[in-house]
Amino acid sequence: MNRIISNLDLAVSELSKGHLLAIPTETVYGLAADATNEEAVKKIFLTKARPINHPLIMHIGRDWNIEQWVTDIPSYAKKLMQLFWPGPLTLIFNLKTNSVISDVVTGGQCTIAIRCPSHRLTLELLNQLGKPIVAPSANPFGKVSPTTAEHVLHDFPKHSFYIVDGGRCEIGIESTIIDATNPHHCQILRDGLIDKARLNALKGDIICLENTKTIRAPGQLKTHYQPHKPAIYLNDIKNIHQLTHCLSNAFLLHFSTVDVVNKELHYQFPPSVKHSAYEFYHRLRSADESKADLIIIEMPPDSFEWKALRDKIIKASAPAE
Ligand code: TXA
Ligand code: MG
Repeated sequence: MNRIISNLDLAVSELSKGHLLAIPTETVYGLAADATNEEAVKKIFLTKARPINHPLIMHIGRDWNIEQWVTDIPSYAKKLMQLFWPGPLTLIFNLKTNSVISDVVTGGQCTIAIRCPSHRLTLELLNQLGKPIVAPSANPFGKVSPTTAEHVLHDFPKHSFYIVDGGRCEIGIESTIIDATNPHHCQILRDGLIDKARLNALKGDIICLENTKTIRAPGQLKTHYQPHKPAIYLNDIKNIHQLTHCLSNAFLLHFSTVDVVNKELHYQFPPSVKHSAYEFYHRLRSADESKADLIIIEMPPDSFEWKALRDKIIKASAPAE
């Protein structure tokens, strides 16, 4: 059975033995394996029931030299690493030929996604292990991501890997993914708290383009992050009145102030993007575990800074027609 642990020596030894280990990061919990151990990496796909063509993010320690794995690092990418690592930013680079990283990690692609997480325990773990680890979010494929050790325990009740307890994730949604394979400009493939406005505002000529989907980012599936209960989203909370027939037992997750029908079955997100992101998966999980039979989510404003959350809501739920 799975167990929550706080002993870092045990955690390092588990990874060294080729076992899986759930780890805390500042974004969400990850299900980790030694990136250089192909058999260990395969276990991630089996455990999550994740299609093998979905590449994994490689997590590295502070100030590790990435030139041992990748080539053609653009100068803007060097700047981004300086500014945001350790932190919630993943960069995609061209993989070096004859790299020690197995095809299982990259899904057979010639690129690799890398990030340096900022959670203290995971940085210490990487430091002690001395090798990179791969870690997708520690949830069954397509389901809601975990932001506490207990969430991971809940989602994998029949598995037998340890879960390092690092408390609640301080960011709460996944890292921003940036394609850094073009020498002149980058492209956001998955939105996170580091958004386009923030990147474009940086000094040093970082040109960030819209995602034109020129490279495959399998995380951009139409459905993802889905709760078990049916979920719908509304662009305009005023439409809530049109749904009165199913409202009495629906859980309402909303941003604007509304007169809620059922005081027990609702949660209003805080006004800032940062605080809403912190609460997002946490509250989606509570709604999923409540006695409600439907989850209704209000869309936040249609602006740059809310894009990561809007994207997650669209994938987690269906539009209310
Ligand atoms: O915050 C995060 O990034 C978390 C924590 C645990 O670090 N990890 C995470 O991993 O969200 P995962 O596997 O759930 O999402 C990684 C995404 C997937 O959509 C995958 O397809 C994409 O990254 N990805 C990985 N390598 C890629 C590559 N070489 N090219 C394009 N997309 C890639
Ligand atoms: Mg995920």
